[in-house]
Amino acid sequence: MLPFRARPLLSTCRAVARPVRFQNQCRRNGTSSSTPPPTTQRNVVGVFSPTSAVLFIAVGAGMYFYFTTKKQQLLEEREKERMSKSYGRPNLGGPFALLNCTATPSSNRNEIPPTFTDKDILGKWSLVYFGFTNCPDICPAELDKVTAIVNDLSKTNPSLPVQPIFISVDPARDTPPTVRKYLSDFHPSYIGLVGDYAQTKAVCKGYRVYFSTPPDADPTGDYLVDHSIFVYLMDPEGKFVDAFGQVTTKDDVVEKIQEYVKEWNR
Ligand SMILES: *[C@@H]1O[C@H](CO)[C@@H](O)[C@H](O)[C@H]1NC(C)=O
Repeated sequence: MLPFRARPLLSTCRAVARPVRFQNQCRRNGTSSSTPPPTTQRNVVGVFSPTSAVLFIAVGAGMYFYFTTKKQQLLEEREKERMSKSYGRPNLGGPFALLNCTATPSSNRNEIPPTFTDKDILGKWSLVYFGFTNCPDICPAELDKVTAIVNDLSKTNPSLPVQPIFISVDPARDTPPTVRKYLSDFHPSYIGLVGDYAQTKAVCKGYRVYFSTPPDADPTGDYLVDHSIFVYLMDPEGKFVDAFGQVTTKDDVVEKIQEYVKEWNR
């Protein structure tokens, strides 16, 4: 079949001595025209009735959903293993010093907010989440989840205040007013913290949070920040207790926190 077409292709390849990658491609083109096309699969197509097609798609979608969820669970497990290194509760957290964005009076935009350190999380259980205000959907979903968790816990355990904390991983674009405004959509007790690049890097290192913002990020740039998505539960002594991933539901988190609190009070 069309041998005259196969030959010029091969010869041009040889003539220009293209890289191996292209030569292979050319050769494949050349030979494929001499091999017969694959036998038509008409009988197979015939068996594929509309019903079986729908079934096929449904099963496929179900399996896709199952495996992506499973995969995410596995990834989160592995990430937690990495955080806990070999055994016991990992020693996450540690000292940090950031600006308390939510403490700034909204009337005075130029006032520098007070510093918030690791000492300020003592005496309360806290839920710490790292994110950025330009985050399109994951951060709002996680902050909504934390809001619901704090609300649920305050209903069942009114004497147990759980402090939600948001730490920005986007020091270039997230300023105290931006963070304060952003958090007003979530739980009213949210505390928002920002730092400069070095402070952000230090707090992320303490919590073993990965974030991709480069040190020289353009404050007016339109970029996304890749970061670990975990809600960290810290006890009233400021010690790390657990990290909840995206797949852990609100109810599971509430239940787990209640267990940890019971255990802690003993
Ligand atoms: C941080 O701001 C919150 C208000 O969001 C306030 O209740 C808290 O006392 C402040 N903490 C520090 C240490 O500035």
